Amino acid sequence: MSVTFEHKKNGINTENEMKRRIAEIRRDFPILNRKVNDKPLVYLDNGASTQMPKQVIDTISAYHTYHHSNVHRGVHTLSQESTDLYEEARETLKKYINASSTKEIIFTSGTTDSINLVMHSYAKKFLKKGDKILVSNMEHHANIVPWYMLSKSHDVEIVVIPITDSGELDLDTFHDLLDDDVKIVAVNHVSNALGTINPIEKITETCRERGIITVVDGAQACAHLTVDVQTLGCDFYAFSGHKMHGPTGTGLLYGRKELLDVMDPYRGGGDMILSVSFDEIIYNEAPFKFEAGTPAIAQVIGMGAAAKYINEQDKKFIHSYEQKLLEYATDKVSDVPGLKIIGTAENKISLISFIIDGVHPHDIGTILDEEAVAVRTGHHCAQPVMQRYGIPATTRASMSFYNTFEEIDALVLALKKVTDLFDVN
Ligand code: ALA
Repeated sequence: MSVTFEHKKNGINTENEMKRRIAEIRRDFPILNRKVNDKPLVYLDNGASTQMPKQVIDTISAYHTYHHSNVHRGVHTLSQESTDLYEEARETLKKYINASSTKEIIFTSGTTDSINLVMHSYAKKFLKKGDKILVSNMEHHANIVPWYMLSKSHDVEIVVIPITDSGELDLDTFHDLLDDDVKIVAVNHVSNALGTINPIEKITETCRERGIITVVDGAQACAHLTVDVQTLGCDFYAFSGHKMHGPTGTGLLYGRKELLDVMDPYRGGGDMILSVSFDEIIYNEAPFKFEAGTPAIAQVIGMGAAAKYINEQDKKFIHSYEQKLLEYATDKVSDVPGLKIIGTAENKISLISFIIDGVHPHDIGTILDEEAVAVRTGHHCAQPVMQRYGIPATTRASMSFYNTFEEIDALVLALKKVTDLFDVN
């Protein structure tokens, strides 16, 4: 393994120092020590779900061991402690994305749930027949299907923003598509199938000038980029806890307060009201009016611990390290016979989607698993991306800051086993 070093870039002046820091980070993630098929696990499926550090696991365990009780409901000590921990998580997440108020932070079960909330509570109320929603060609199904459902129930039109061959948004066409009927633009911050980082600030600026609401799917960005919703200038931003080293079953919807105030909840139940009688129900204010029923308390507290963990890292270092991993991996996999990378945008997170001539991605995934290399294969819940490139599926290696250059070497070695087996030249 050889990585080129820019002297003292980001305060890291030797390769050894970088390795020491990564080794230290890896010690926080117990699962990285396990073996699969008697070989050390090489976990390159972070796009699907990231691993949790022991700080998150311990926080969840401590909650269950010492504090568990329901939130916002009891006067007893445990309920007060639970409520405090739950609301502390909201404060931590507010800081994590630099929202201006905790009133803008709604806990959901994940990105999908967050986008469905916007569709039901905002779009159903404010869009009418003939309105248009612009959705990019590189969206995950979570940012397509809810809008499709709305198009059926409310007779609104979905218009697709095309992407270029390299997997970037076609911004000229995007501008051409903007007319007075466009009411919502729904795009991801980072594509889960291609790795592309989209120019969200540019998009929101254009939309703001035209009074168009922006819904950003941040699922793949939340662990890799510093997300600042005020700088991004979006109206809604959605992401999931398990994509940022927290537990599954958690997510977040950031919404601008002025919008949340005029939206109605679409799920009703306990803990979201001020008063209920059979004649009248008065909802609580945001964010509580959107959090009906007992929430995933332990998981939300875990998501808060994950945000705290990332906030305590040297973000400049981990972001630049991930870029080095991307450069290294891009270079190394290019030597694999018959391999073609799908998604070659200039700005990418550390994710590589690829195909190999004549080998189905599921076969690649299975052979890689024999070598303990975990990747995702398939359409990645982004079938329109596959249709755009005329392929059924890709293999995707998605890296995190705890991955190493040696693990990339292991990936490449396992891929060579695939090409040898299938006789790809
Ligand atoms: N959305 C997840 C992925 O991209 C599951 O793999």
